[in-house]
Amino acid sequence: MATSLTWLGHSTFQIVTGGKTVLIDPFFTGNPAATVSADEVTADVIIVTHGHADHVGDTVDIAKRTGALVISNFEIIDWMQKQGLTNVHPMHIGGSHKFDFATVKLTIAHHGSMLPDGSNGGSPTGIILTTDAGKLYFAGDTGLFYDMKLIGEEGLSLAALPIGNNFTMGPEDSLRAIKLLEPTWVLPMHYNTWPLIEQDINAWSEQVAAQTSAKPVIPTLGEAMELGQ
Ligand code: NI
Ligand code: MN
Repeated sequence: MATSLTWLGHSTFQIVTGGKTVLIDPFFTGNPAATVSADEVTADVIIVTHGHADHVGDTVDIAKRTGALVISNFEIIDWMQKQGLTNVHPMHIGGSHKFDFATVKLTIAHHGSMLPDGSNGGSPTGIILTTDAGKLYFAGDTGLFYDMKLIGEEGLSLAALPIGNNFTMGPEDSLRAIKLLEPTWVLPMHYNTWPLIEQDINAWSEQVAAQTSAKPVIPTLGEAMELGQ
């Protein structure tokens, strides 16, 4: 079965894999970059990297409307249950689980994770999705960390990295991250949503091509990319 990926702005991705539609960090309401609204998006599964509002986003509303399975760390899933969600699966850092659409593994991320109402969102995470198009790493919000070397040792087809700076890695540290991760393809995220995280994406892409072995891909908002093996 084919796997495709669509960037929906900020750190929001829709991945179709194993016959299921997976949303990562579904942030539509209040997202100036969003091209679709929370009440029209489809999902079978939602995975949330950490508790911040621009990542939890519209998870509760979408899950209530679609019945999608919500996967996140233990603390965020506990909070989701308090919001009335019942189709949930708690995990935590270092753990992986084989679902019917893909295997999901949570990684470390260096960041915060407080939930929108001030509740404890546990530790922030990244996600490795093992699909029929290889391993896809979504770093979440994070600074550079040397253990990216260990994540890279898993053999990544694709890495989606924040490059916006200020709250996460900026473009320069993302180049160091790519050298540790050594993915085949690298996608930028968490940039240009607001003026504070504006970046020159073409300059970034040129630096990636010049300095690393990864191929930079700048997805077009809302346009599905087929991921080959
Ligand atoms: Ni964050
Ligand atoms: Mn964020």
